[in-house]
Amino acid sequence: MQYEPRLCALVDDLLGYFSINDRSKKCPKNFNLTNTDLKYYWFINRKTWTVIEGFKILEEELKVKGKLPTFIDVGCGIGWIVRLARNLGYNAYGIDIDKDLLDLGKKIFNLKYPILRLANALNYDYSKYDVIYLYHPIFNHSLERELEFRILEQAKKGSIIFAPANEIFDYDSQEDSLETISYQYYIYRKL
Ligand SMILES: C[S@@+](CC[C@H](N)C(=O)[O-])C[C@H]1O[C@@H](n2cnc3c(N)ncnc32)[C@H](O)[C@@H]1O
Repeated sequence: MQYEPRLCALVDDLLGYFSINDRSKKCPKNFNLTNTDLKYYWFINRKTWTVIEGFKILEEELKVKGKLPTFIDVGCGIGWIVRLARNLGYNAYGIDIDKDLLDLGKKIFNLKYPILRLANALNYDYSKYDVIYLYHPIFNHSLERELEFRILEQAKKGSIIFAPANEIFDYDSQEDSLETISYQYYIYRKL
C-alpha cells in the first residue's frame, strides 16, 4: 500500500490550520474555504504519522480474503481518515453528528453520501465493519463510555478496533473480549 504522502502533507497542513494553537498559519492554497468554513474543526491537533503507523499495523493484521476491508470512522469530522483509508484500499465510511463538518469534508475531500453520513454514533450499528476507528468522539465521559461499550458489544468476532484516547478498551477487565494488538497505537481485536 502507498501511504499517500501528498494527502498526509495536506492533512497536516489542514490540521495545523484548523488547530486551536495555530490560528496564524496561512490557509493551504487551492482550498477555496470561506470564513464560515473556518470556524469549524478547530480542536484536532496531532500528527498524521500516528494514524499512518496504525494503518501499517492494520495492514499486517487484516486477513479479509477476496474483498476490501470495511472501515468506519465513528465521529469522522471532515473525513480525512475516511479519505486516507479509501486511498489505501479500504471500503471506508464515516459518520458524524455535525452536518457542517460533513459538508466541509465533502468540499475538501470530495466524499459524498453515503460515504460520509449524518448519524448519531450512540444509535449506530457497528456489526458489519472489519475496522472500527474512533478518536474519542464524545466529550462527555459517560456517553463516550456508553459508545465504547456499544462498539465492544456489537463488533464482530475478528474485527479490529482502532481507538486512540479511548476510555475502556485498554483495561484488563476487557481481556475476555479483546486482544491488544498495539498498546502504543491503541489497536485491539475483538475475540
Ligand atoms: C475528536 S473529533 C475526531 C475527528 C476524526 N475522527 C479524527 O480522528 O481526526 C470527534 C468528532 O466526533 C463527532 N461527534 C461527537 N458526538 C457524536 C455523536 N454522538 N455521533 C456522531 N459523531 C459525533 C464530532 O462532531 C467530531 O467531529
